[in-house]
Amino acid sequence: MNVLGIDIGGTGIKGAPVDLSDGKLAEERYRIQTPQPATPQKVAKAVGRIAAHFEWKGPIGCTLPARVQHGVAHTATNIHRTWIDTAVDDLFSAHTGLPVHVLNDADAAGVASMAYGAGKDRDDLVLMLTVGTGIGSALFVHRQLVPNTELGHLDLNGRNAELFCSDRARKRDGLSWKQWAKRFQVYLDTVEFLFAPDLIILGGGISRPSKVQKYMRYLSTAAELVPAVLENEAGIIGAAYAARTMAPA
Ligand code: BGC
Repeated sequence: MNVLGIDIGGTGIKGAPVDLSDGKLAEERYRIQTPQPATPQKVAKAVGRIAAHFEWKGPIGCTLPARVQHGVAHTATNIHRTWIDTAVDDLFSAHTGLPVHVLNDADAAGVASMAYGAGKDRDDLVLMLTVGTGIGSALFVHRQLVPNTELGHLDLNGRNAELFCSDRARKRDGLSWKQWAKRFQVYLDTVEFLFAPDLIILGGGISRPSKVQKYMRYLSTAAELVPAVLENEAGIIGAAYAARTMAPA
């Protein structure tokens, strides 16, 4: 079965039909610029444009970089503040005329990794961390997602973790990969102390193979630590998968 997956990011909104039998994109990805300011109404229109591009008639799964609980967005750290309390499932459904299920972007990437990527055969405690503009998290206990964990906002000695060691923080502070890894190691130590995961999957912008080789050797964890293999497409794939398996009936 194919489901349309849409990944909403700060600069681009990307969508593609996903073949859920193998987690592959069934058609070429379609990307449009995220409208600015990225208000719910403008983004909803963009979601409608993506559905129209594919002449889509079935279910849609969509990511949002926010806590999304029962179809309603509750936070907006790196997105426009007007998302808070927006009924996103209903808004996107109204703009597409189709059933839309929205979930947190890191949760979507995690769902994709568990279904088709590094977490595929894992039944233990798996933590996905997406590191880019912010830090997102997705926690799985016996393959079951604990949604909206928001571990990117853990406190590290009085500092918000994502402000301290996201990829944006690395660029903002002009850090070498080694210097950034030293900061990220503090974060990993904290996460391991609190949750004792068996496997940590690193996703987001830093999971590209060209980047992984620059910092992986500086990190050490008790858990197995691996880069995500689905990279850029994880949001699209996970959103589509979740629309099929996690959307309310
Ligand atoms: C947001 C999360 C999101 C993460 C990655 C954080 O700032 O609070 O909801 O998953 O960024 O985009």
